[in-house]
Amino acid sequence: MEFVHYNPTRILFGKDQYNGIAEQIKSCTVNNKILLAFGGGSIQSNGIYSKVKEQLTDFEVTDFGGIEANPEFDTLMKAVEIVRNKEIGFVLAVGGGSVIDGVKFICGAVNFDCDPWDVLSRKEGCVFDSALPFGTVLTLPATGSEANSGAVISRSPLKEKRTMGGPYFFAKFSVCDPTVVKTLPKRQIANGIVDSFVHTLEQYITYPSENLLQERQAEAILSTLIEISAAIIENPGDEKLASNLMLCATHALNGNLRCGVPTDWTTHMIGHELTAYYGIDHARTLSIILPRLYENQIDNKREKLVQYGKRVWKLEGDDQELASLAIKKTEVFFQSLGIQTKISDYSKDTSEIADHIKQIFVSRGWLKMGERQAITPEDVHSIVSKAI
Ligand code: NZQ
Ligand code: ZN
Repeated sequence: MEFVHYNPTRILFGKDQYNGIAEQIKSCTVNNKILLAFGGGSIQSNGIYSKVKEQLTDFEVTDFGGIEANPEFDTLMKAVEIVRNKEIGFVLAVGGGSVIDGVKFICGAVNFDCDPWDVLSRKEGCVFDSALPFGTVLTLPATGSEANSGAVISRSPLKEKRTMGGPYFFAKFSVCDPTVVKTLPKRQIANGIVDSFVHTLEQYITYPSENLLQERQAEAILSTLIEISAAIIENPGDEKLASNLMLCATHALNGNLRCGVPTDWTTHMIGHELTAYYGIDHARTLSIILPRLYENQIDNKREKLVQYGKRVWKLEGDDQELASLAIKKTEVFFQSLGIQTKISDYSKDTSEIADHIKQIFVSRGWLKMGERQAITPEDVHSIVSKAI
């Protein structure tokens, strides 16, 4: 398959790469005014805030904290106002995927004359066609947002969670210091492992592509995550393990794996709706949906499930057994990280969720999803029902 691969983000990987921030910002900002964007306060208690701040003495810095996990449109619009009023020239995101995604939105919305929600809700003719330059300091290896041009923004009052992206939304640079992993709660490390794992699977469990290198690269990420997962949760201060986790997370979604292969992002699309409805952590929604989606699509995905079972899980047996066993192994792997894989593990209010998500797929025109365009809204209903 033909592809275009473009990724201009400079990755500053390793311990204490904060030291390069000022130089990087100077090379791309339009003035010396910076918005420093962060989340609910973890960077203040774990020392990352002061490490970053001491690099910014040459700049006029405005702090903007309080970006939520699953960043909220209304909060981000407050930042947009500040950036406009103070004529800020650069935004630095310090956080996980939520802060980074939120900053992508802020940087796109700031020069957009109409209602930025129109872009997210795909109103005809509404697109972000420029963005303020931004950089990131990653504090949670999971989403790959530090190295890609996508973002996901929530609007709770509407129970909506929408994607956005485009070539303007690559960070100018991203500081990826693996020693941040030791400051993370176990729950977030587990989430990061699962999110990276599922990003890789969504670009791999489709049909055989004849793109042998890409398939081996996906298998390398999956195998590495399996190899390190239990140990990194137990020893988050181990820099070798933390470095490998951070590399896996970035490489799983920096655009490389999808080059020249089919992809199927339906697990993510359903998962986003579970977060919008229940507030379940992003990675956990993926653990709930992915096994049921693969069972639903087992005939379409059989060849790759068998390949995955043999190469990644070292399973043996006939193809019929192997495909099912590979799905089971994946679910048990998620559970081994302390992650529950049923909707009812998170909420008792399950009577309307399958209808609700099916309806969203219909209303957005997502009638044929997956690498073979074989996943219909009826399938989505069945997948969600079985996930309860
Ligand atoms: O709010 P703060 O204080 O930052 O605390 C966060 C938050 O409570 C905390 N945390 C982050 N770094 C920490 C830390 N706590 C202690 N020490 C640290 N070093 O962890 C919590 C979760 O943070 P969040 O940023 O929400 O997690 P994650 O990185 O998993 O991001 C999830 C968001 O990214 C979107 C998801 O939908 C969700 O909204 N995604 C973005 C993607 C992209 N842009 O490419 C792809 C993904 O598939 C995903 O959809
Ligand atoms: Zn994800």
